[in-house]
Amino acid sequence: MSGFRVAVAGATGNVGREMLAILAERRFPVSEVIALASTNSIGRDVSFGDKTLKCKALEHFNFKDVDICLMSAGGAVSKEWSPRIGAQGCLVIDNSSTWRMDPDVPLVVPEVNAAAAKGFAKKNIIANPNCSTAQLVVALKPLHDAARIKRVVVSTYQSVSGAGKDGMDELFNQTRAVFVTDAVENKKFTKRIAFNVIPHIDVFMDDGSTKEEWKMVAETKKILDPKIKLTATCVRVPVFIGHSEAVNVEFETPLGADEARAILEKAPGCLVIDRRENGGYITPHEAAGEDATYISRIRDDPTVENAINFWCVSDNLRKGAALNAVQIAEVVVNRGWIKPKAKAA
Ligand SMILES: NC(=O)c1ccc[n+]([C@@H]2O[C@H](COP(=O)([O-])OP(=O)(O)OC[C@H]3O[C@@H](n4cnc5c(N)ncnc54)[C@H](OP(=O)(O)O)[C@@H]3O)[C@@H](O)[C@H]2O)c1
Repeated sequence: MSGFRVAVAGATGNVGREMLAILAERRFPVSEVIALASTNSIGRDVSFGDKTLKCKALEHFNFKDVDICLMSAGGAVSKEWSPRIGAQGCLVIDNSSTWRMDPDVPLVVPEVNAAAAKGFAKKNIIANPNCSTAQLVVALKPLHDAARIKRVVVSTYQSVSGAGKDGMDELFNQTRAVFVTDAVENKKFTKRIAFNVIPHIDVFMDDGSTKEEWKMVAETKKILDPKIKLTATCVRVPVFIGHSEAVNVEFETPLGADEARAILEKAPGCLVIDRRENGGYITPHEAAGEDATYISRIRDDPTVENAINFWCVSDNLRKGAALNAVQIAEVVVNRGWIKPKAKAA
């Protein structure tokens, strides 16, 4: 197969750097990779495997010969640029929340609804879900297939890298400030994040939930099944990389912890680490840099009929963003839904 010309927009960011690493790791069939960021980053070096690429400015770039743009430059940039890039015949795989609920844009997690990606043609855009939703639906899909999920109650423990490189800098700087007894400044988060937890991610909605919580509800319905009822509490915690979730699932038909464990052990994208002993579970520290959605602490919930609890951890920059985007690109390429515009030299 000839290679594809792939642009990574937001190449200097947390997700963009991970996209470049994953394209190289998985040997995505590229003829060229172009690193794009803001005008502030023109000429800046970024790594692609053992090569170094010089960043170009997205706003000066012509996409007419590019096949795929992996977009992770934030919602405002995506809103302005994704339709223009799509109109030039380049497929945009976007990480922001801008296009996720657009009926003309597929919202895809390949382990769950790869076939939906085929519907990209109207806008030439495919959306990636929110990082917390991506890992959750990977775990829910095989359980839903087995016993139809009625209701999900989820509490998240989300790392600061979910708020971009500024979020990571804030945790680092505040932690340092606490140790050297400097003043602790909040810029990115609404309250201090070092040695603290914040039950507030994204803006408040009229009903008292936050937009992050609403996204988990709406995106799970779009990707998995509109009949699933879900309620979420999303919390930012002082962890650099890796989102964790405590999940309670109620089924329509009986499904106990042992059966759920056997199903999840075989499910694509899931890795069950669940020993009932000290350390027999996964924490975000161990999931960082990994591709799997880890499942631990699977147990029956004796307070409700047909219900279980489990703990779910994944690297939010990988399955929650960059890996999922590259997997979507693999789906459209491997199924022949797009062809390279130019033959490789
Ligand atoms: N972090 C996560 O877990 C996660 C998960 C799912 C989705 N997302 C989404 O992915 C996107 C990127 O997140 P991130 O965590 O990588 O953020 P980040 O670390 O703050 O990086 C932002 C990137 O966007 C670029 N950018 C900013 N303004 C631009 C402009 N006008 N034109 C071109 N490029 C511009 C930046 O380039 P400069 O360096 O030149 O400023 C940088 O490369 C966001 O939409 C976010 O919501 C993130």
